[in-house]
Amino acid sequence: MRRIDCGTSGSRRLAGRLSWQDLDLGPPWPGVVQILAGNCEPRPVQALALGEQRLLDKRCNAILAAPTNAGKSLVGLLLLLDAVRLGQRAVLLEPLRAIAREKYDELQAARRALAERLDRPLKFRITTGDYRLDQETFTSPPPSHGELIVATPERFDSILRNPDNASWIEQIGCVCVDEAHLISMSHRGLTLEYVITALKCLATPPRLVLLSASLGKLEQAQAWLHPCEVTRLTERFPPLRKEVWELSGSGGEDEANQVVAAHAREVLSDASAQLLVFVYQTRSAEKLAGTLRELLDGRAGSADPQPYHASLSTAQREAARQAFLSGRSRCLIATTALGLGVNLPATHVLVRDTTFAGVGPLSAADLLQMMGRAGRGDREGHAVALVRPNEAWRAEELAAALREERLPGLTSALEPGRPARKGGGGTTPSTSAKAAPVLAQLLRRQEQGITLAEMETFFSQSLGGQTMTSEVGMLLAWLCDSSRCLAYEDEHGRYRPTVLGRRAAEAMLPLDLAAGAAQLLRDLLSVDAEDRFLSQWQGLDHLILLELLNPRSLAGRRFSEKLAEQVDGWMEGPPQRASVLYREWLRGSTDTCRASDVLGSLGIHLRRQSAVDDGARQTAYLAIFRAAVLFERAGGEDASKVERRWGVSGLEGIEERWRDETLWLLWGLSRLLEVRCFYYHLREVCSAGDVRVRRVKGLLRQMRKRVLTPFSEVSSCCKRAFSS
Ligand SMILES: Nc1ncnc2c1ncn2[C@@H]1O[C@H](COP(=O)(O)OP(=O)(O)OP(=O)(O)O)[C@@H](O)[C@H]1O
Ligand SMILES: [Mg+2]
Repeated sequence: MRRIDCGTSGSRRLAGRLSWQDLDLGPPWPGVVQILAGNCEPRPVQALALGEQRLLDKRCNAILAAPTNAGKSLVGLLLLLDAVRLGQRAVLLEPLRAIAREKYDELQAARRALAERLDRPLKFRITTGDYRLDQETFTSPPPSHGELIVATPERFDSILRNPDNASWIEQIGCVCVDEAHLISMSHRGLTLEYVITALKCLATPPRLVLLSASLGKLEQAQAWLHPCEVTRLTERFPPLRKEVWELSGSGGEDEANQVVAAHAREVLSDASAQLLVFVYQTRSAEKLAGTLRELLDGRAGSADPQPYHASLSTAQREAARQAFLSGRSRCLIATTALGLGVNLPATHVLVRDTTFAGVGPLSAADLLQMMGRAGRGDREGHAVALVRPNEAWRAEELAAALREERLPGLTSALEPGRPARKGGGGTTPSTSAKAAPVLAQLLRRQEQGITLAEMETFFSQSLGGQTMTSEVGMLLAWLCDSSRCLAYEDEHGRYRPTVLGRRAAEAMLPLDLAAGAAQLLRDLLSVDAEDRFLSQWQGLDHLILLELLNPRSLAGRRFSEKLAEQVDGWMEGPPQRASVLYREWLRGSTDTCRASDVLGSLGIHLRRQSAVDDGARQTAYLAIFRAAVLFERAGGEDASKVERRWGVSGLEGIEERWRDETLWLLWGLSRLLEVRCFYYHLREVCSAGDVRVRRVKGLLRQMRKRVLTPFSEVSSCCKRAFSS
């Protein structure tokens, strides 16, 4: 193994140490700080923002850009509480449900003391659109009695785009966006950009506070949020020593785990040290925690090394966090997604996975964010990134990137010519993703409609202003296209959402998925005047449909005739597997399979057709295979049995995905199964009379009920959410 030193960044001493009294904040703030942060001195970012820049005395927008661990959250919270103190509503946006929950719990624990200090009753609320945890969906009304609301950007977007919530939104005095660098990500950045733009364009916009570890270009974001104060600190405190370790052997997971164990043994021989290990998958977190438990033999504290990932229940996760914070466990193995924003101060960090199988390498910025978790109090942190042979990062290249710490700026995901950073998620957002904020805006204005010029004016206020404005016309046309029917232009040149578009937007469904599913239904209505196919639609069909529209890899299993045979055999099982999609279109040999008809309806255009044009059939069989695996797990079948049957591994991750994605998408799909979404098509294209319309209405209701039939295991609150 080769160790490459990447230098130490940050200062060893706080220049000109100050006390909170020196900042002269005035009542009630010193007391509030005491409650939230205990006895401490202000960190440089806090001294700058609150002491020098006097952000608590101003109302302008603010961007706080400082390295990981700098102490930005406290400033954000004080500015939110300042709005609450003035009787306004305050919103804290956190990127992940688990992080939102953690922040909410922290606030809730301090509620009584804060209320006393601020001399007013306080109510905190969390809203994440999670029917499992919060018993709410994306279309639920916003919490009515909450002064400080913690939400995810997607949930807040769903609140914002519903015109019924306009008066609720008017009462917001301050919105703090944590981890605001998310705005540059192709996947979720557009949601955040839209939310901020919409808030900025309100008649009385709330104060916007962006917290970010991005230290690159901030001028554009500052101009966007004008008037806006920027608090920018580049120096880390405490300092951070960085290393890259290049593994030389086979580079397998076991070898990496041995290196982690040896490092843990060394680090934990110092009784005051704590180690945070980042891995990619839930499964790896569990496995590594088990391995370390054996190898460290009690050295990691009475509570042993603890895994920390999204598949744990909230209580389990909190128990692991508390064990780590109290020092009972001195080693925590967190998944990257979860560990990123969670407050887990450690002296040492080791990032085991710098490349994610099937996803790609992590960006240097993400790695720095994880590594920056090392360092506690005044104590210098030490962070290591492991690079295995054949990974996307070459060790030298990564070491150079970590040494330079060149971090991206706060720029729009739409920014033209964004450099394709390694692992930077720098892909251009899809048309469907770009059209989502346009449809959201149509939803907000559905009563009066909106012209192209008005839409352009609105999007000229976004961070990606020019790019977005130049594309708005194309995006409106995309939404109105007859294969999608998500919006329409009325006789006065005003655009409005269709009922289908409204349902899709309310449920936050990916628009290509919503449009594909609806087009398939329209095609079924067109070719089948008796509606036999609709009447035979099964719960499994919903799953197959989702897997066709939302493809992913499952354990790397590829198409083979053997897999097709296995799928055919499985389909001969109990009657609930009698999928109409399979029976009528997807099954059969290359000569008889009609999968390309279904894929055509769904708007899925295969990039590469094989010589015998078998691509559609292969895509279909793979989708059914995944649906079958999910179907069995959802029905409570034991994971190891399912793994053996289908020759796959790593199904533990399924529950996570199933819960957070499949169930949400299924719920969204169920919102589309309403006759009003297809009324025009039925009447105008199919010339349906009242009798057929009534029949279709009943059949769609039946299909909606069947959405949940594969999931015998889901809880009653989830069922309530689906039936509402
Ligand atoms: N004044 C302070 N003195 C000592 N510790 C502090 C102080 N302010 C905050 N902290 C602690 O420092 C840690 C990091 O703070 P915080 O979570 O606010 O960092 P951040 O700037 O938001 O970093 P990130 O970009 O990673 O989210 C936390 O454990 C927090 O409790
Ligand atoms: Mg933070």
